Amino acid sequence: MKDLTPNKADLDPIEIASVDEIRALQLQRLKTSLRHAYDNVAMYKQRFDAAGVHPDDLHTLADLAKFPFTYKNDLRDNYPFGLFAVPREQIIRLHASSGTTGKATVVGYTQTDIDNWADLLARSLRASGLRRGDMVHNAYGYGLFTGGLGAHYGIERLGATVVPMGGGQTEKQVGLITDFKPDGIMVTPSYMLNILEQFHKQGLDPRESSLSVGVFGAEPWTNAMRLEVEAAFDMHAVDIYGLSEIMGPGVANECVETKDGLHIWEDHFYPEIINPETGEVCEDGEMGELVFTTLTKEGLPMVRYRTRDLTRLLPGTARSMRRMEKITGRSDDMIILRGVNVFPTQVEEQVMATGGLAPYFQIELYKSGRMDAMRVFVEAEPGAADELSKTAASRMLIKRIKDIVGVSTEVLVGDPGSVARSQGKAVRVIDNRSKG
Ligand code: DLL
Repeated sequence: MKDLTPNKADLDPIEIASVDEIRALQLQRLKTSLRHAYDNVAMYKQRFDAAGVHPDDLHTLADLAKFPFTYKNDLRDNYPFGLFAVPREQIIRLHASSGTTGKATVVGYTQTDIDNWADLLARSLRASGLRRGDMVHNAYGYGLFTGGLGAHYGIERLGATVVPMGGGQTEKQVGLITDFKPDGIMVTPSYMLNILEQFHKQGLDPRESSLSVGVFGAEPWTNAMRLEVEAAFDMHAVDIYGLSEIMGPGVANECVETKDGLHIWEDHFYPEIINPETGEVCEDGEMGELVFTTLTKEGLPMVRYRTRDLTRLLPGTARSMRRMEKITGRSDDMIILRGVNVFPTQVEEQVMATGGLAPYFQIELYKSGRMDAMRVFVEAEPGAADELSKTAASRMLIKRIKDIVGVSTEVLVGDPGSVARSQGKAVRVIDNRSKG
């Protein structure tokens, strides 16, 4: 793989500023942002007043802990535009996430927000190893989802050529990659596996493709998956994180030279890790729920937004800003089986480590008597689809999940192609527990 470490001179100065400088900028911006939210959004005024806090009470960054949290439900309760802090006419873009239950959550951006987003996405792409003049194939979905357009504007801002492919039409994706020869691809990691399979179907060697970097996010994925994709395409696989409520993709990104967790762009977002049960702020290094306060957002400022994503904060390495470890999972996706907490990423690691299995899986939860039980659907690799190999792989995966994750599970190894393929964000868990 190519060495794609960026030149220091090309970085934004704040990326390599001293920690003291970053903290000073954050404090100054945090004061302005809390004031903006309090003065312009009725919900924040009510919440702050009820908690007996005022933006003037923030003297240090640690004082943020006195302020109330914001939840996804607050966006739903104020559907569609109730949390916007500027008149609707100043909002130049809307995005929304459908969510599996209830109303969509709607987010809005001013021109300045869109500009900051493009800048931060361009910074993320530079960290990923991409440059002005490169070509980037964008297979994140366009439309209300923030992935497609967020990436699109960032690629342009970097000065690269964007191929605005969007999701789906896997055959065509491979055709365009082969013909246009992009340097980078932006797509969910699970859909990248779908693209990989299509390369093989067309008799093409993915290692011969032009791709030297993949910028993968929008769903949890493991280092085991990174190694699989890097080996398959002979390219770097880098993690990009974000969420609509805070901005979209580009809130945090890995650096290609270290791949040791995602640097949070702390000049625009202030991160905290809290204990999800008590709400108390954890020390850096401790695992908990990630919480963000926006520092520059005009349209939709967010104060202490509970992401439900579980990770921990680590000191800066390739950049001065703190890193978040790869996300373990969302608290909503945590499976509790006989008292043991299980995340789909833990199952992914074991599927990847088991010989004879392709990297596709889905988990079904069901009732076995009164107890919850779990079944993992996987599939044999094309060369190992005979009954003997399938039985051996199944036994091995059951043992690994039992020994390493700590739960008993059933494993069904199907033929190649039997597990549903992702078209964007993979559906990892099917919950049939209410079906008896
Ligand atoms: O998924 C934004 C995005 C688009 C990020 C493209 C990266 C690339 P939402 O649809 O609002 O926004 O979903 C946000 O997705 O809270 C996480 O649970 C999950 N997520 C996003 N990126 C990662 C990642 C976009 N790199 C939710 N690793 C977040 C793990 C991720 N989970």
